[in-house]
Amino acid sequence: GAPIEVDLTPIAEGQVIKVTWRGKPIFISHRTKQEIEQAQSVKLSALPDPQSDQDRVKAGHDQWLVVIGICTHLGCIPISKSGEYNGWFCPCHGSVYDTSGRIRQGPAPANLPLPPYRFVSDTKIEIG
Ligand code: FES
Repeated sequence: GAPIEVDLTPIAEGQVIKVTWRGKPIFISHRTKQEIEQAQSVKLSALPDPQSDQDRVKAGHDQWLVVIGICTHLGCIPISKSGEYNGWFCPCHGSVYDTSGRIRQGPAPANLPLPPYRFVSDTKIEIG
């Protein structure tokens, strides 16, 4: 499939939207300062799938998290702004993801995957 462009300007701070790319749900989260701080302050040793928040966002665009919205356990679509870490909660078997989309609790073995994307301007990304 062709890449898709997404205009970020309508996404309010604190809001998550879902778009579809190659038939997959993609969550785009406009993170608040607090959510960014939460994501950055976690010790990697506390993570089942250790990955720094820096490695999950584009440099200079900390406020934007873009993840594939498919639970890494058995493929359900997790609920945004939900769960103990205010990231995502998967209703199927209770996996909990943080504001960086990293797995924190439950049976999922890995963080929410990142799609290939790039910023074409400060307010627009191209996914794919
Ligand atoms: Fe998400 Fe099982 S599919 S916890």
